[in-house]
Amino acid sequence: MKKPGKRTDPPAVKNQAGEGDFRHLVVGVDEKVPVAGGGKRPYINLDNAASTPALRPVIDAIVEFSRWYSNVHRGTGYKSRLSSWAFERSRDRVYRFVHASPKEKIVLFTRNTTESINHLAGKFPFRSDDVVLTTVMEHHSNELPWRKAARVVHVGVLPDGRVDEADLREKLAGHRGKAALLAVTGASNVTGFINPVHRYARWAHEAGAKIFVDAAQLAPHRPIDMKPSGDPEHLDFLAFSAHKMYAPFGVGVLVGERGVFEQGDPTLVGGGTVDIVNLENAYWTDLPDREEAGTPDIVGAVALGAAIRWIEGTGWRKVIGHETSLTAYALERLNRIPGVTVYGDADPSNAAGRLGVIPFNVDSLSHALVASILSHEWAVGTRSGCFCAHPYVKCLLGVEAAEAKAMEERILARDRSVIPGTVRVSFGIYNTRTEIDVLCEALGTIAAGRHMDGYHLNKERGEYYRTDMEENFSGVLDV
Ligand SMILES: Cc1ncc(COP(=O)(O)O)c(C=O)c1O
Repeated sequence: MKKPGKRTDPPAVKNQAGEGDFRHLVVGVDEKVPVAGGGKRPYINLDNAASTPALRPVIDAIVEFSRWYSNVHRGTGYKSRLSSWAFERSRDRVYRFVHASPKEKIVLFTRNTTESINHLAGKFPFRSDDVVLTTVMEHHSNELPWRKAARVVHVGVLPDGRVDEADLREKLAGHRGKAALLAVTGASNVTGFINPVHRYARWAHEAGAKIFVDAAQLAPHRPIDMKPSGDPEHLDFLAFSAHKMYAPFGVGVLVGERGVFEQGDPTLVGGGTVDIVNLENAYWTDLPDREEAGTPDIVGAVALGAAIRWIEGTGWRKVIGHETSLTAYALERLNRIPGVTVYGDADPSNAAGRLGVIPFNVDSLSHALVASILSHEWAVGTRSGCFCAHPYVKCLLGVEAAEAKAMEERILARDRSVIPGTVRVSFGIYNTRTEIDVLCEALGTIAAGRHMDGYHLNKERGEYYRTDMEENFSGVLDV
């Protein structure tokens, strides 16, 4: 077995240029985890695009709320009335957070972005030959639900991964009268590109279509303004998830035109959705209750309200400033490591216009192996693969059709040993340059071939594991 590369423990986080300002606000940020070869290292979470850790002010809010927690709506007890108030207050915060008018739009609480999109796809009044235009950049959650509801037409991406706007305009014009909806992501979970959704909204409206924006990645990192419906650049529908914005307690959001949710039967029927039931008929109640059947995720909604409150109190300027500076720094450093290829936009001077989500590969090494080494030897948590965006990642990597077909066959035969993909790092408000230094030190070592031996591939899962790192989680956590 090779010796591990020399590793220096990361120094304590410095409070330079605002660094560390947010660190003490994040739960679990200083936890140490076991690494291969023995010992422990501070865990570095660079997987914020998947889920962010919980903010302390959010935890504090729900601990405080738990003293008063009770079921919402129609309960006459003080705690139930208070819980109803807290739940609805979070809804009000969402309205303000995305600048939506309660007269025009309804804010619905769901489980996550995926459920929100499925909900909208089931509710949108598509005619039989309607088309949904979407892009090759999308997360599967903003693609597959539309296939169940309408004919999906894809707008292409340019070689660097940006949406091909000429193709978008052409397809909007070509499907005029048939394109009912443009479903597009606010920001990519793979390359961090931010789409100019207001421009797209104008184009969609001009072509007679409405626009849905998947804001799962955008909402934690940029302000959102849905604008009034009289504005040609307004957004008709929007979804996001609280677990990506420091409130990981199970709530998602769907915002949309009231009329769409008022027609037809509720998506789910049952408790809370009716005004009157007799043995023959049910008379549906008003929004939001008619589209939020059963007991909602009250704690999740209160947690989201607390996260929004924190972000607004801190101010977007600080959040964006910190994440931009981290992204620029990371790109500068990654670009200088021989053997590391960054996909999408690798130019640090463009950091202000994109999110801190960076996909990369290390020459000749599998992305899954690199991610495993980062985790096992350096305690750096990343993600690897296609990030639920298979078509997009294949475009970024230039995978040819024949190669893609062969890969599909291997995967269907339960062999994921060679699948295209990248490693992805993604930053949150609490990450630091010091952490990026550790990432880059690790990548330099890996690219130079100085990582440990002893990684084994689980072919079916496409993951690398170590036999000397038995996972004894029950010894860590008593759940
Ligand atoms: C752009 C985008 N859309 C949708 C989703 C799905 O979000 P959720 O898992 O919260 O439903 C994700 C999750 O990573 C995402 O990045």
